[in-house]
Amino acid sequence: PLPAAFTVPLPLPAVLKPVGADRYEITQRETVLEILPGIKTPLWTYDGTFPGPTIEARRGRPVTVTHHNRLPVPTVVHLHGGRTPPESDGYPTDLVLPDGWHDPGHGTHMHDPRAVVTRLTRDYTFPMDQRATMLWYHDHRMDFTAPAIWRGLAGLHIIRDDAEESLGLPAGSRELPLVIMDRAFDGDGGLAYPALDPSLRAHPGVHEPYLAGVLGDVILVNGAPWPVHEVDAARYRLRLLNASNARHYDLEAVTEDGRRLDLVQIGADQGLLAAPVTHQTLPIAPAERYDVVADFSGVPVGGLVKILNRLGSGRTSEVMAFRVARRGADDSRIPSVLSADLPAWNRSDAVRVRDFSFRAGQMNGGHGWLIGGLPFHPARTDVTVGLGDVEVWRLIADVHHPVHLHLAGFRVLSRGGKPPLPRDAGLKDTISLRPGESAEIITRFDGYRGRYLFHCHNAEHEDMGMMANLEIG
Ligand code: C2O
Ligand code: CU
Repeated sequence: PLPAAFTVPLPLPAVLKPVGADRYEITQRETVLEILPGIKTPLWTYDGTFPGPTIEARRGRPVTVTHHNRLPVPTVVHLHGGRTPPESDGYPTDLVLPDGWHDPGHGTHMHDPRAVVTRLTRDYTFPMDQRATMLWYHDHRMDFTAPAIWRGLAGLHIIRDDAEESLGLPAGSRELPLVIMDRAFDGDGGLAYPALDPSLRAHPGVHEPYLAGVLGDVILVNGAPWPVHEVDAARYRLRLLNASNARHYDLEAVTEDGRRLDLVQIGADQGLLAAPVTHQTLPIAPAERYDVVADFSGVPVGGLVKILNRLGSGRTSEVMAFRVARRGADDSRIPSVLSADLPAWNRSDAVRVRDFSFRAGQMNGGHGWLIGGLPFHPARTDVTVGLGDVEVWRLIADVHHPVHLHLAGFRVLSRGGKPPLPRDAGLKDTISLRPGESAEIITRFDGYRGRYLFHCHNAEHEDMGMMANLEIG
């Protein structure tokens, strides 16, 4: 029995307490939580919560997170959007082995001579030498990322700085992180995932009908189904993450009398925009973040504002709602200039232009997803770039592919030969390629030398080959 929409209160992910100066500890463990009212759901969690606890960091202050693996399988932690040295970036074969697991090769069908495997625990160090923004951390184990995230291994990591805090944006209880994901439940309350190997120990992949990606029929925000949140009639900063494996949303905020509220975008995946961009509807692909301000001041007290998904049908067309509970003073503002430090790379700065196709194809005798005609292999270097080089990458897709680049934030230069869309503003780390579409991105590969990745963030595509190695040398 699913709850009626907009009856369950919106939870806010707990903020993780440091165990020392900028030091954190997280235990990855199984737990049972109540997601659907009255029903127990077993999950894999970071520290027993779903989503995991939020890490609050300051720009320029390195953070170390010690992860303990008490799950029954190896895990890998990746800080999505982090400018992280390679040894802490969560390469998919840099496993943290659980108790009783002796063979690092077990569970991956390919040997990786460069893998750095640890037992039970691992320290991940994040320099935080990057723009203030909302990142997220999630599992990245080779071949098994999708089912691990589905079972609960995802959490937020927010970077703040003085410049952003001086802008006067809505803050405190008027800043809400919103982690949107879809899930399916089986008759016992378990999270139904159509894995070929439900133990996730050895055999990757999903059942045939799910090759395009696994969708759920229950929409969760911060781990609660179709929740509702009481707000003041004032501006709110909504920090959106689509943490779904494969579902795309096109969000709109609609009042009971059918009026659409503007969604004023102030930030993208990699921090503040130069200037606000107003959207009527906001498409969000897996792994993308949008930082938006919604103004509830014109809504009568008692009124409901629904967040709807124009790409859904039936219950997947509803996401959550805000109930305007009271009037409220509001001294927040949205400055017309938000930031002045966005990189402005030009085509003429690029030392190279490369082409990558993202297409379905054959892999190990079955169906897979390929980049440049090849499925992922950890022992192959697909691209080598020079440290500090600016490059233009031309990406072309057969179906929807949200393409994510580790380490380097990028700007969108064009889509389908035309100027970028309003949603492409700012510094991105994930671009939503639409079916049949090509796009150009530009970035500078700086920070660290070493082995990184780029891949599709449809998590099933990623597990079925759509990932490639990027060597920065
Ligand atoms: Cu969000 Cu390579 O991942
Ligand atoms: Cu894809």
